[in-house]
Amino acid sequence: MQFFIDTANLNDIGEAQQLGVLDGVTTNPTLMAREGISGDEAVRKHYKAICGLVTDNVSAEVISMDYEGMVHEGMLLANIDPKIVVKLPMTAEGIKATRYFSTQGIRTNCTLVFTAGQALMAAKAGATYVSPFIGRLEDISTDGINLIADIRRIFDNYQFPTKILAASARHATHIVQCAKVGADVTTSPLSAIVGLLKHPLTDSGLAQFLEDHRRVNSKTAAVI
Ligand code: G3P
Repeated sequence: MQFFIDTANLNDIGEAQQLGVLDGVTTNPTLMAREGISGDEAVRKHYKAICGLVTDNVSAEVISMDYEGMVHEGMLLANIDPKIVVKLPMTAEGIKATRYFSTQGIRTNCTLVFTAGQALMAAKAGATYVSPFIGRLEDISTDGINLIADIRRIFDNYQFPTKILAASARHATHIVQCAKVGADVTTSPLSAIVGLLKHPLTDSGLAQFLEDHRRVNSKTAAVI
């Protein structure tokens, strides 16, 4: 299973990368705005900086709503760095653009997916990744993990190569649940990735180990 971080924050990306478990980054216009990135040149520079921090897979989202605009914008994004994956919305225009980029050998991430039917459509169009938003489904009291399981079953039935990128994963339990039902990738904030490390029994067990070691070794040091 691959771990992507869902942020445009360079410090968080660097921190996740240093853990040695990061496989990629997803961004969206909200996350870019959160970092105060605006204007074509600033966007280009920021994506270049992100690409410099990670080994591959940097999803960069188009803003255009029409096919021609998406193709133009997506080509500009793809030309920034070979690590860029063009992120396109789940709309009819987005699906047409996904098909176009697929024929050009340019990787795509179809975003804002909330049903298995939408995921099937993205796979048919040749999307590299499909991004079902599990957290936002839970926000409206709908089971996001079931959706991942349904998409897994459909993709396996027909051997679609499209990867399931479980997005809007907000905490460590989401990552584990997605792993159990066979998501290929999760994207989540740094807190969720780091959250996988944590358990209070790990902390108390380690404190006890260190205390026992210190007690015996301080006695030995006193004898010498
Ligand atoms: O990857 C999609 C993600 O950015 C949405 O997350 O937490 O805003 O629903 P969230």
